[in-house]
Amino acid sequence: MSAPVLTIDGPSGVGKGTVARVIAQQQGWHLLDSGAIYRAFALAVDARNIDVADEKALEEIAKNLDLAFKTHQDSELVSVYLDGKDVSSVLRTEQTGEMASRIASIGVVRSALLKRQQDFAVAPGLVADGRDMGTVVFQEAAFKVYLTASSAARSNRRLKQLQVQGHKGIMSQILAEVEARDARDSSRKHSPLKPAKDALIIDTTELSLDEVVAQVSALVKA
Ligand code: DC
Repeated sequence: MSAPVLTIDGPSGVGKGTVARVIAQQQGWHLLDSGAIYRAFALAVDARNIDVADEKALEEIAKNLDLAFKTHQDSELVSVYLDGKDVSSVLRTEQTGEMASRIASIGVVRSALLKRQQDFAVAPGLVADGRDMGTVVFQEAAFKVYLTASSAARSNRRLKQLQVQGHKGIMSQILAEVEARDARDSSRKHSPLKPAKDALIIDTTELSLDEVVAQVSALVKA
């Protein structure tokens, strides 16, 4: 790895994406939202009506995934294009997250998407967020962080996010979804969600975004 890499791993809804975006902006580094790759892959498989037991077909789709990220000057949102179509809004739904979580447990899928993720590590540096950034994809990263928070706190944040977007949500349902996804992502055989041995673990349950950013920023600058 020629460029410095900061990995940010953690369970769903912990705020990895927001922290990653702020630090990437501060440092002037590239950003890899690896969850978006798994989500886009799940959409591609869904659109092609592939049997998820057909590993050869899955591998083929993963290797040829026509995926592009587009940043905007006037917004912090990143648009995601799959097969030339803007899939940004459907990509972010809980249903897509659930599909991604299921399909991401398949070993051949992870192997086929590995290099695509590693290719993001170019100068001047990279902030990569996901589940296995520090343990598998960027094992040699200079800086590793693992964010955690209680499932209740994460569900509460998700509920507020939905409300801000004008949607309704039911706390008990969100909590059940968050816990089911955590259980699947942590217990799978291939690249399970867990902190890298050399990661700084930050429990964000009682912390504000600014406080988390300050800790991560201090690590990168140290
Ligand atoms: O971070 P996210 O919610 O966008 O990720 C969606 C799913 O993709 C997540 O539940 C598991 C999978 N994923 C993964 O297995 N490995 C990653 N590095 C990122 C995401």
